[in-house]
Amino acid sequence: MDLSSTVGGGHSRLAASSHDPALYADPYRTYAAIHRAGGTVFWEDLGHWCFAGHARVNDLLRDRRFGRQILHIATREELGMAPPASHVKDFDAAEAHSLLELEPPAHTRLRTLVNRAFVSRKVEGMRSEIEALAHNLIDSFESDGEVELLSRFGEVLPVTVIAWMLGLPATDGPKLLAWSHAMVRMYLFERTREDEVAANTASRAFTTYLLERIAEKRRRPGDDLLTHMITAERGGERLSDAECVSTAILLLNAGHEATVHQIGNAVRTILESDRDATTLFRTAERTAATVEECLRFDPPLHLFMRHVLADCEIDRIALKKGERIGLFLAAANRDPVHFEEPDRFDPDRTRKDHLSFGAGLHFCLGAPLARLELQIALPALFARLPGLRLAQKPQVADTFHFHGLERLDLFW
Ligand code: HEM
Repeated sequence: MDLSSTVGGGHSRLAASSHDPALYADPYRTYAAIHRAGGTVFWEDLGHWCFAGHARVNDLLRDRRFGRQILHIATREELGMAPPASHVKDFDAAEAHSLLELEPPAHTRLRTLVNRAFVSRKVEGMRSEIEALAHNLIDSFESDGEVELLSRFGEVLPVTVIAWMLGLPATDGPKLLAWSHAMVRMYLFERTREDEVAANTASRAFTTYLLERIAEKRRRPGDDLLTHMITAERGGERLSDAECVSTAILLLNAGHEATVHQIGNAVRTILESDRDATTLFRTAERTAATVEECLRFDPPLHLFMRHVLADCEIDRIALKKGERIGLFLAAANRDPVHFEEPDRFDPDRTRKDHLSFGAGLHFCLGAPLARLELQIALPALFARLPGLRLAQKPQVADTFHFHGLERLDLFW
């Protein structure tokens, strides 16, 4: 294992390359080794400390001395950061008002305005539409006896649902998917300049598209989230067009990229386990428990970064303002101190407090929606396609941060 002896605070160094196919194919072996070594490591490849213990990650996500953003309290020059690159300026503009790039008070203002659309009660109101959509998608391949699940089901369901919520035509789904795929490559460790240029082009097209839709909604308001965003007012303040565009792009990207891979990972987990799918989904309660265990066991987003906003000491490590740290959400889900036999898929386990949706200020806004989609999609697939099996061992996609499958070929 790529863990070598001590650095600061008596912790280990992690020598694994973030580009190593063995790491992204099975990161859980590395996480187990990190836990054996105490849960806190200096990852040489990234050049900063990373934390994997459940209690530690949970605390750090809630600790206001760490933030997703730091430019609200320090300048680029102070931090020794390069000036913004001009070839990604449209991407930067589209992200400028993203919830994920903001800290309070700007974050609080935006999040309050969009939050209402995502509360469980509101999301639950879409149950019958999402059920109908899931069954229509299954109708389109049921008689084939085989399917590549991600392209025919996993991708289509979440993007269609979030497009409905925003009041965008579902027929624009493929266009939205293409822009989103290009943009999320910016979050990969191994992105190239071509990726950056493609993400910038997609951001420009996506922004123009949304500004046109916003102008239409102003002329003909609908009962949808985009209309709500442009008309919502709090204390005499409204969202600017740029804020509406950033939020809509974040919702479209976050709203499906993670869910696609969670659907794929969950189906694979169940098919590779010794559990009988019909009992896993026998009641609504069993279904909810199975979904939570799938989220704990093999989530799509593994590592999130935070900036150190104030000098502090964590686990005997002196962290300086401006440094970065990494939080291994997926490793926290496999912490043996917190979860008994963490490498066993067990929907009956009583502890369900996984960190796959994060925690604290940036806790996933779409968690109620993602849970509902999974609670509908998984039972529908296993009920409609009895005898469902893997056609071949699925290949994990070649990125570490987005942990998902390249494709998922099934037959029944
Ligand atoms: C299984 C599916 C999903 C997973 C595993 C997931 C995971 C996460 C995680 C871990 C974060 C926190 C990031 C951090 O703390 O740095 C997050 C934030 C967020 N997610 Fe999700 N997500 C999922 C689905 C969705 C969906 C369906 C939507 C929207 C429709 C959504 C919208 C968001 C938004 C807007 C944020 C930013 C919240 C903020 O900064 O205040 N996510 N998600």
